[in-house]
Amino acid sequence: MPPIKKQCFAVHAGRKSAFPVVIGILSEFRAFGKRQINSGVKQIMAGKIRVGVLGPGRIVRRVMKDFHKGQGYELTAIASRSPERAEAAAREYGAKYAFGSYEALAASGEVDLVYVAVPHPFHCAASMLMMEHGKHVLCEKPMALNEREARLMVDCARKNGVFLMEAMWTRCFPATKELAALVRAGVIGDVRHIYSVFSSCSLEDPQSRAFNPALGGGALLDIGVYPLMACTLLLGSAPERVQGACHYASTGVDMRMAMQLIYPGGATAQLMAGMDAGAPSQLFVYGARGCILMNDFWHPSSFTLRTADGGSREYAFPVENEGFFHEFEEAARCISAGLHESPLVPLDESISVARITDGLRRDAGIVYPGE
Ligand SMILES: NC(=O)c1ccc[n+]([C@@H]2O[C@H](COP(=O)([O-])OP(=O)(O)OC[C@H]3O[C@@H](n4cnc5c(N)ncnc54)[C@H](OP(=O)(O)O)[C@@H]3O)[C@@H](O)[C@H]2O)c1
Repeated sequence: MPPIKKQCFAVHAGRKSAFPVVIGILSEFRAFGKRQINSGVKQIMAGKIRVGVLGPGRIVRRVMKDFHKGQGYELTAIASRSPERAEAAAREYGAKYAFGSYEALAASGEVDLVYVAVPHPFHCAASMLMMEHGKHVLCEKPMALNEREARLMVDCARKNGVFLMEAMWTRCFPATKELAALVRAGVIGDVRHIYSVFSSCSLEDPQSRAFNPALGGGALLDIGVYPLMACTLLLGSAPERVQGACHYASTGVDMRMAMQLIYPGGATAQLMAGMDAGAPSQLFVYGARGCILMNDFWHPSSFTLRTADGGSREYAFPVENEGFFHEFEEAARCISAGLHESPLVPLDESISVARITDGLRRDAGIVYPGE
């Protein structure tokens, strides 16, 4: 990590990363080799998609609050690095199988789709292990630590003919789908500007995932990907220029990242992701003929449309509990339809966002161990 800096301003144009390949972080994965066990793929056409959870930590606890509300899939297995944790989680969440290693889950014939829920530096290796064994993968955000890893994952999915999707749950909410449809239909005219802030006040704990460089800490990768994904959805994947302003945590990761994006054709975006500034997390989409305001845009239940002629309309899509089940329904729907990626969360967008965050981190001097 670089020495602690207080601020950094830098500019870069969207371009490919020069980072070295980082795979096999979970070294034990290597020993498992590249056997092809396309166990679940044929059976799923007849019934529910059987989901295995890899890494039962904090996000899994939240996901499980309403997991069972979704259609077309069911929980069958939990895998942990510890057999005891796997058994406890399987009991708690109602899974039939508990695997005391990730390799055992990869080899299992009882799982079609693996939900990869480990910290970001391990997404690539864990997902690739599963895909090499014929498993479909729903991988937590950010899909990878950097663009090189994202490309490795996409190549691996294509080589093995399996489904891969970043668990960008925001995209699967009815409110997000409706907002995108309205913008596509030209209700606010051409999008001219996006403003979005996603920030919270967190205690600076150097050991926690959010602050620990070894666990991919930092606001940009943890929550900055949400406003960036809003931009790729509404303005496209290829900004002409990206400019970042970073304030660092004591561990050297980004405590706060402010971003400006400029797109071909003149559209612009101002975004902020932070861990030390409480703010309502909002998305504003400004068009040539109106504006849309969405509160809590990373798990939205409503938004307001205002048109230039003075009109205003509220859209409401009540969400009970967390709403994570939408992304599992989307993955199950795609897999059952024989798709290898979701049209709601295209893999090209996951790669593009990784390219943008690579550039911002490069300019800010933020390099993770092993990169
Ligand atoms: N969609 C959302 O709203 C949302 C919210 C929070 C987090 N996330 C994403 O979910 C992922 C996990 O976040 P989290 O907060 O759930 O993480 P976490 O609780 O710190 O870790 C999750 C699990 O990963 C496993 N693991 C594997 N290797 C590990 C290692 N070297 N160090 C620590 N844990 C390791 C552990 O399970 P075992 O040891 O039992 O296998 C651990 O319980 C992150 O990529 C994050 O970005 C998404």
